Amino acid sequence: MKVAVVGVTGLVGTVMCRVLEERNLPIDTFIPVASARSVGKPVKFRGEQYAVVSMEDAIAARPDIAIFSAGGSTSLEYAPKFAEAGTTVIDNSSAWRMDPGKKLVVPEINAHELAETDKIIANPNCSTIQLVMALAPLHQAYGLKRVVISTYQSFTGTGMKAVKQYQLEKKGYEPDQAEMAYNYPIFENCLPHCDIFLENDYTKEEMKLVNETRKILGDQAIGLTATAVRVPVHGGHSESVNVEFHTAYDIGEVRRLLAETPGVEIVDNLANNQYPMPLFAKDKDSVFVGRIRRDESTENGLNLWVVADNLRKGAATNAVQIAEYLLQHRLVGKAQATS
Ligand code: A2P
Repeated sequence: MKVAVVGVTGLVGTVMCRVLEERNLPIDTFIPVASARSVGKPVKFRGEQYAVVSMEDAIAARPDIAIFSAGGSTSLEYAPKFAEAGTTVIDNSSAWRMDPGKKLVVPEINAHELAETDKIIANPNCSTIQLVMALAPLHQAYGLKRVVISTYQSFTGTGMKAVKQYQLEKKGYEPDQAEMAYNYPIFENCLPHCDIFLENDYTKEEMKLVNETRKILGDQAIGLTATAVRVPVHGGHSESVNVEFHTAYDIGEVRRLLAETPGVEIVDNLANNQYPMPLFAKDKDSVFVGRIRRDESTENGLNLWVVADNLRKGAATNAVQIAEYLLQHRLVGKAQATS
């Protein structure tokens, strides 16, 4: 099995390598890929040193799987070229997620939709993955009518430049324009501005939560609205999630359903002040759910607090789980490119 990691020098790329090592995929050939700036740079994988290669060299090597985390424009340009060479691309950017011909996959929820002909598979947005992990079992049981989400998102979701901006500001240094990932300081600040503003006055991140959730859960009728906020936090994204169901629910059953969901862990022991927090979600693969309580202002309403490491389940782990599913179900290697 030949596996390429595209964007290997980036934040998500680095975590992807770690997750690939941990989960012990049967990789014979590892191909680290980044921009022309990084070609030749050393990358460690399973204790061995590799040199970063260019996109062109990676395509020529015809990997079975290429996991991309190198930004939307790189994916738009290169994912089809890899696919044409017979590679199955798992893409972490937003480039293909809403393409009706591409699957948007959270393995625990909809990996069964994958077929051998899917040559470009989209990994959802980090804040969407943790949201749908908590919502999917509840949607199945009670039907989601409306969901209101407020996010508290780690700056690590913006990539290496944002981490450097935070570190400089924390040291008391004022970064110059070229060193800033955001319009404003992120240290000791909250930015209600994740990704770009759109014509409807929402941010692209907020609309990803709306549109990607509907696509993954396969239900365009779910009402969703979001406010996405970038916070000076390292370990993961947190979400306040207010839900209204179509049917009545029992809070004990909600807890049971969430507790039985693979990949979800309940942390909700108020007597001991236990609830999910990004500091403790860091480096973990689970989605942590707590503060589970009835919304007393409306019928069939529920409040949740959902936390996950955005670089792991929100990006790298989810992508590697897709690769695992493809391998386990023999969906890579032989197919002709159809998309
Ligand atoms: P490079 O380090 O050579 O710039 P992050 O989101 O953490 O900033 O990481 C982005 C990743 O995407 C990096 O590995 C970066 O490589 C890679 N990348 C950016 N542009 C391209 C490109 N045009 N082709 C291949 N890789 C790219």
